[in-house]
Amino acid sequence: MKKHVLIGVTGGIAVYKILDVESKLRKLGYEMNTIMTKNACEFVQPMAFQTISNNYVVTDTFERPHKWEVEHISLAKKADIMLIAPATANVIGKIAHGIADDMLTTTVMAAKCPVVIAPAMNTAMYENEIVQENIAYLKSKGYLFIEPVSGMLACGDVGSGKLASPDEIVAFVEKTIEESLVKEEISQDLKGRHILVTAGPTVEAIDPFRYITNHSSGKQGYAIAESAVKRGAEVVLVSGPVQIPAPEGVKVVTVKSARDMYEVVHEYFNWSDAVIKAAAVADYRPRVESQHKVKKTGLDDMTLELVRNPDILQSLGEIKSHQVLVGFAAETDNVVEYAMQKIAKKHLDFIVANNIAQQGAGFKGDTNIATIIEANGQITETGQMSKHALGDAILDKVKCYFK
Ligand code: PMT
Repeated sequence: MKKHVLIGVTGGIAVYKILDVESKLRKLGYEMNTIMTKNACEFVQPMAFQTISNNYVVTDTFERPHKWEVEHISLAKKADIMLIAPATANVIGKIAHGIADDMLTTTVMAAKCPVVIAPAMNTAMYENEIVQENIAYLKSKGYLFIEPVSGMLACGDVGSGKLASPDEIVAFVEKTIEESLVKEEISQDLKGRHILVTAGPTVEAIDPFRYITNHSSGKQGYAIAESAVKRGAEVVLVSGPVQIPAPEGVKVVTVKSARDMYEVVHEYFNWSDAVIKAAAVADYRPRVESQHKVKKTGLDDMTLELVRNPDILQSLGEIKSHQVLVGFAAETDNVVEYAMQKIAKKHLDFIVANNIAQQGAGFKGDTNIATIIEANGQITETGQMSKHALGDAILDKVKCYFK
């Protein structure tokens, strides 16, 4: 597929050189869109860029205010790389300070692709401490710079600030795209894999108003699902009732009770290459779910009779074929010993044990502390980390078990 280069052109005498950059990129097979600031249009007409890039040019003239609102998002999403050239001191300063008051700067703020900035300005301006601080700040935030070269400037001064040559700019763009492709390939290590994750609590009804549940927020399971989809896997997340939004790209199936979860998990089990059961499933449910509100009696005591729920994980362990099976163990003491027993009983490949009594681990928070125990006896202590980082550590381990 053709890679897409989004070019932001700001006002400076070097604008005409970007026509050459676009012409070279087009010959190399790139697709392009151009955004021109109002000042850039003073130097070269948008029509010239439209003809060279063979695509429409967006300007900051506010002629199409309705389109303007969404255009910056769609262009930012489409871009594999964004190049701002020539970049004035003004645009560099605006980006460094998060100012988004025109088409170009709003698009930069929305861009998730690499952003390459090629400054061009008078030497004194380029060497100005404020401009240099803005450049250093943007570099620290991951923005890439094509350093200007020394030479005779339009104003007659001689020194640094001259836009890098079109050949250099094109080579830099190509190199950056290649590097991001390599990164993307490495980060898509779960492409083609089907991963089933469970998250959140289950809710076991007593009557239409009351239920038994636990403190699971769903954060750990959702974090695993989000990491897996980012790494290219197809992900189904079976979730008990939680208050967090569905991660982008993940198919979420919501359930209430352990028995609902059992049904859905079994429905997707054959499809799955791995199942990661982070949900906190109720072991018991009320024997009777009353259809009417349970009334107070004259007695001080009331007994609620409970019956066992199906053990979902164990039922999967009994029928598993190629699937990698990962359990969680929420414990407060004898963490490793109990986790080992669960591995054996539920035929797991490994278990992620978290001590829910420990500060920074378990329910609700954004971090967890886990001991990953494998069926072969290998034990890995993760230390405290974000639930997303633990998700990645679990997925790294899952990868080793794929047949
Ligand atoms: O959701 P958060 O707020 O982020 O909190 C995360 C968490 C603490 C809930 C999570 O890290 C965790 O530990 N989840 C598992 C909790 C649990 O139910 O542990 P358990 O030891 O009771 O169960 C062991 C394993 O069997 C679990 O994988 C569980 O999903 C599974 N199980 C349990 C009972 C049952 N009837 N069916 C099951 O499949």
